[in-house]
Amino acid sequence: MALIDFREVYKAFGPKVVYSGLNLSIERGEAITIVGGSGVGKSVMLKMLIGLLTVDAGEIWFDGRCIQALSPREMTGVRQRIGMLFQGAALFDSMTVGENVSYGLREHHRMNPRELAERVHWALSLVGLPGVEGMFPSDLSGGMKKRVGLARTIALQPEVVLYDEPTTGLDPINTARISRLITSLQRSLGITSVVVTHDMGSAFMVSTRLAMVHKGQVIATGTPDEFRHARDPLVRDFIEGNAPEGEDLLAVLRAGG
Ligand SMILES: Nc1ncnc2c1ncn2[C@@H]1O[C@H](COP(=O)(O)OP(=O)(O)O)[C@@H](O)[C@H]1O
Ligand SMILES: [Mg+2]
Repeated sequence: MALIDFREVYKAFGPKVVYSGLNLSIERGEAITIVGGSGVGKSVMLKMLIGLLTVDAGEIWFDGRCIQALSPREMTGVRQRIGMLFQGAALFDSMTVGENVSYGLREHHRMNPRELAERVHWALSLVGLPGVEGMFPSDLSGGMKKRVGLARTIALQPEVVLYDEPTTGLDPINTARISRLITSLQRSLGITSVVVTHDMGSAFMVSTRLAMVHKGQVIATGTPDEFRHARDPLVRDFIEGNAPEGEDLLAVLRAGG
């Protein structure tokens, strides 16, 4: 059974229909990228999954249970299993990097200071930033801040990580770096990744599968290769319209940046 399953989901904001029969199954261990034009509902999909937005009709299943049927307490349990790296998620400027990374752990878990320090070190090492615990966000570049944000998510050891436009605003080198990190976390920790991006280069690089949203539904799913060779004009137009950034990224990757 799929780990995450959207079943005939409907969602509207007033007259604005965002989803009219969304169906999508995501298997454990997959790295799936959701693509689609601006405003089609990609962020809304992630928010419905973690219960930040409710569905109007249909069901979302997580690990064998329909989340609409869960009590608030059970939903909190689900949320603890799903990490999020949201667009523009900011670090707390008045806290050190270490305090930022351990923030969620101090809130929800009983860990002694030594366990906390070890977990923070582990998470920062995974994103390639060991030893920056004592620095402040203002000391970091934009790319480093993104990686610290990712370390804060990973520190909670989620089973699933949702990435909303993780490379937006980053230069090609940092885009490649974040893309590689998403892949390595999925492979080494077995984390199921759900990535939203409009950057096809990054999408092709990090995904085991892609899903394209258009007019309220998933209109195509497939492997990166299947997408590259897609005949569907909507998919082709989207890929071609969003390729340039991707070409930059591939050039950087080839150069080993
Ligand atoms: N909380 C909200 N209230 C009203 N409208 C919203 C809300 N969240 C999203 N929308 C609308 O839903 C549509 C999809 O938004 P979103 O999922 O953010 O698009 P994107 O695919 O760019 O991430 C947009 O038209 C947006 O304006
Ligand atoms: Mg969005």
